Amino acid sequence: MAHPVRQCRVAAIAILQLSVMSAFIPLGGIAAQATFLTGSMLSRLPAMRITVIGCGYLGTTHAAAMAELGHEVLGMEIDPAKRSALSQGRVPMHEPHLADMLARNVESGRLRFTDSYAEVAAFGDLHFVCVGTPQQPESLAADVSQVEAAVNGLAPHLARPALVVGKSTVPVGTAERMAGRLTALAPAGSEAMLAWNPEFLREGYAVQDTLHPDRIVVGLQDGRAEKLLRDFYQPMIDEGSPIVVTDYATAELAKVAANAFLATKISFINAMAEVCEATGADVVDLADSIGYDVRIGRQFLNAGIGFGGGCLPKDIRAFVHRAGELGVEDAMTFLRHIDDVNRRQRERVVHIARAMVGGDLAGARVGVWGAAFKPDSDDVRDSPALWISGQLHLKGADVRVYDPQANATAARTFPTLTYAASAIDACRDADLVLHLTEWPEFREILPHDLEGVVRRQQLFDGRNLLDVDTWRSAGWTVRALGRR
Ligand code: UDX
Repeated sequence: MAHPVRQCRVAAIAILQLSVMSAFIPLGGIAAQATFLTGSMLSRLPAMRITVIGCGYLGTTHAAAMAELGHEVLGMEIDPAKRSALSQGRVPMHEPHLADMLARNVESGRLRFTDSYAEVAAFGDLHFVCVGTPQQPESLAADVSQVEAAVNGLAPHLARPALVVGKSTVPVGTAERMAGRLTALAPAGSEAMLAWNPEFLREGYAVQDTLHPDRIVVGLQDGRAEKLLRDFYQPMIDEGSPIVVTDYATAELAKVAANAFLATKISFINAMAEVCEATGADVVDLADSIGYDVRIGRQFLNAGIGFGGGCLPKDIRAFVHRAGELGVEDAMTFLRHIDDVNRRQRERVVHIARAMVGGDLAGARVGVWGAAFKPDSDDVRDSPALWISGQLHLKGADVRVYDPQANATAARTFPTLTYAASAIDACRDADLVLHLTEWPEFREILPHDLEGVVRRQQLFDGRNLLDVDTWRSAGWTVRALGRR
């Protein structure tokens, strides 16, 4: 069935498009520095005046990338410390290419920040809602209070036609509720429209994924919203990014379904790793063997300590919770198993570590490579690496952690661990070395780099990426999940 598209009101389109056109900005001057933009992206536009509400990971990247494209961008951030850092062109997290992009667009004046909804409403024609939706403390459900606060804060100031575009990951049904609230609270009434446009960006590739998305999904109820978003995303569409225009519910589900599928692939291969251990098979060869099948694909079949971060774990839990509310919990029960397999990986590593140091962690010295949930990030939210380090510490081990970017964020979450200045320093007098986050620099370390550094030559590869033969032939005992 076609998505519901209400009758367009010609006058309203004209007003909205006029205000968009009035924000035309010539694009000359930005091309030279625009490392991530292709020629075709720079040759289009009228630029628009947009706002980005919530300048965390998603919002900061979206704001900086859209300014880079030539739009005039106003970021709304209520946290004064974050707002002040961003206004000075400083990014509060590690994300490749983002700091440069933010700094040059703040410098040029195309990107600035505020804490005023009145200013946001007066400035923008498109308002992107990029606030967080964390897991609730006492439940699996997502906490959508920041989305509600954004709509409640903005709507009363919307006196002229505007499009509010939700990008946050929300439980299905939220967009429809927010659309009703927007219409009820905005002086512009039904001229204040809502669309849902989930973001699929990966940490470590956030700039690339924002400027060159592998797909654009928009859920909407109104042809005017579709026209505006097609115009807005035209540079990406011209480059070949497919666009799916659909209803609110499908757009909301597209995000959680994608993350649920990715989580399922990872837990599938991790479950197979356990079978490999029981049978003497090798999970890396197994993943290669099935991954060559184009219907399966090799990506997200890397067995190891499991998935973490701010999205996959909380999104599948929120999805299970929402399925329960909708009365379809039986259909989604398998996601509980996906989560269980994932948690078990971490626990298995703690057991293996205990066995490798002789059965008692008390007093054992453990060197850990990695704290972030993945490389090219300093994010330790639900990080399996940090969880494992913390558990070993709580069981009495002397744990020394080194992460190229995440020592500081990890220390804020887990201050009682010892943080080392280098990968080699983390291994001083170690009885066991754990490779837990796959930063490239760890793969460059050779056995002779640790000669005279460690107490015992024992290595656990939690990411199945080290050259096991090299380490074993240098006399090291090496273990990994699902490997011979
Ligand atoms: C994810 C989705 O990929 C992205 O599309 C969505 O918008 C946000 O959530 P991200 O959280 O950046 O992105 O991490 P991702 O690259 O998906 O990795 C998630 C976790 O899975 C990491 O802990 C990673 O180490 C782990 N992982 C990934 C594996 O254990 N094995 C794999 O084969 C792949």
